[in-house]
Amino acid sequence: MLKIYIISSLSDNYVYLLRNDEKKITSVIDPGEADPVIEFLNKKKWHLNEIINTHHHNDHIGGNDKLLEVYKSKLIAPSYNKNHISNVDIYVSENENLDIAGVFTEVIHTPGHTLGHVCFYMPEEKSLFSGDTLFYLGCGRVFEGTMDQMWTSLLKLRCLPDDTAVYCGHEYTLSNMKFAQYFDTNNALLNKVSLEIKNKREKGLPTVPFNLGVEKKINPFLRADDDNFLKSVSLGGNNATETFCKIRLKKDSF
Ligand SMILES: [Fe+2]
Repeated sequence: MLKIYIISSLSDNYVYLLRNDEKKITSVIDPGEADPVIEFLNKKKWHLNEIINTHHHNDHIGGNDKLLEVYKSKLIAPSYNKNHISNVDIYVSENENLDIAGVFTEVIHTPGHTLGHVCFYMPEEKSLFSGDTLFYLGCGRVFEGTMDQMWTSLLKLRCLPDDTAVYCGHEYTLSNMKFAQYFDTNNALLNKVSLEIKNKREKGLPTVPFNLGVEKKINPFLRADDDNFLKSVSLGGNNATETFCKIRLKKDSF
């Protein structure tokens, strides 16, 4: 069984350190900076075997070069727009499988936030690393792709089993929670989860990982095709993509 450590980085990024004790493999996902990762590895006396990037934004790859210099790790990154990330050893794209930290992993291409964005799903570990595609109660801004691409990407993640633990790229949960509550005032599950979130943040604790099954019922960005939800928030479009677009644009200026 994999151990997953959460390392806070920059202002609100999460870097994930994956340790397979049995196989003695250590991997890091989205190191926006190297120093907190090196400090952690030094304490544990572990070598860094692999660096994995979900997308090319600097707050997810900024630590690559230094970590590569120190550990000569293997770098795994999305194949789309290859020139966006340097020194990549293994490119990955939609529906490819690979081992990360010695654990079977499926690659899910989720264009929208960036065109090449990929998420990593480990079925045996029941874990998803969602980068900047799916956040707790939110989703990434649509920078490079279209709204239709982002909605389609979120639908791919929504198909994963309910008992999946989601590890996302940022601690945006409180702000996402306020937006979700603004829309969805009578959602008892959202209100219950919101109390848990507030408690965690008051103690300075991360709100990740979060449960995908719960998320399907409370994240507005996963519910653009849910008629009951749409009636209650009076924000329907002619189709799910249009509705998703309305919710996303509303959040951009919330
Ligand atoms: Fe990003």
